[in-house]
Amino acid sequence: MHRKPVIAANWKLNHGPTDAKHFLQRFLAQTPRQQDRTLIFFPSAITLTTVADALKDRPDIWVGAQNVYSEPQGAFTGENSVLMARDAGARVVLVGHSERRHVFGETDASTTKKCALTAQARLIPMLCVGETLAEREAGTTASVVERQFAAGIAELDDAQIASMMLAYEPVWAIGTGRTATPEDASDIHGVLRRALTTCLDERAAAGVPILYGGSVNRGNASTLLTAPDVDGLLVGGASLDPDAWSSIVRS
Ligand code: PGA
Repeated sequence: MHRKPVIAANWKLNHGPTDAKHFLQRFLAQTPRQQDRTLIFFPSAITLTTVADALKDRPDIWVGAQNVYSEPQGAFTGENSVLMARDAGARVVLVGHSERRHVFGETDASTTKKCALTAQARLIPMLCVGETLAEREAGTTASVVERQFAAGIAELDDAQIASMMLAYEPVWAIGTGRTATPEDASDIHGVLRRALTTCLDERAAAGVPILYGGSVNRGNASTLLTAPDVDGLLVGGASLDPDAWSSIVRS
């Protein structure tokens, strides 16, 4: 069970090993060890070991993979497996990020497999869910995230569900400068929390961190973080600068 707020940086296709080293030197110099929150960096696969090495004296900061392939190994040129991610130092794997779904055509079925492989490797799947603008305008947000959640957990047992993480990231808010209001975020986090209680008891369901993501920045981070049922933040653009990121994670 993970009760501390989780503040995660999704670097996407930014920061190779050299940039990441410089970033972390600067970031660590101004970010003392955090007792009351867990920080996570999701670098590119090529940068994962560099980041894990730079953070080996900082147990408060975890490293995660942005994606893994839906098969454990084999003739899949260009892909990365969950065991490789673990070997490189990852503890968490993002599954079903909106860019995976909408740019690369990832399906609910592949999130089922990726969550299962991740949990079997004893890593934490961070399942991302979220509706498009059209789905929101059609009033189907709750059913979309419930469907994505159901697919992500389809092959997990209760203990694996209890140790996963969720991220609610409305597609229309990612990288657009439009953020969900804290009330909107709380509403959908409530939908996800209720979905968790269909498979877990109340206490275990309450222990699954549900992060919000989508245009989080220095100005809105602390308000979002204090919204009911928001247990953390998943941040893209605003995590790329070490000074700005340090100030957000300490907010
Ligand atoms: P953003 O991205 O903060 O740049 O909107 C968030 C994400 O995609 O995880």
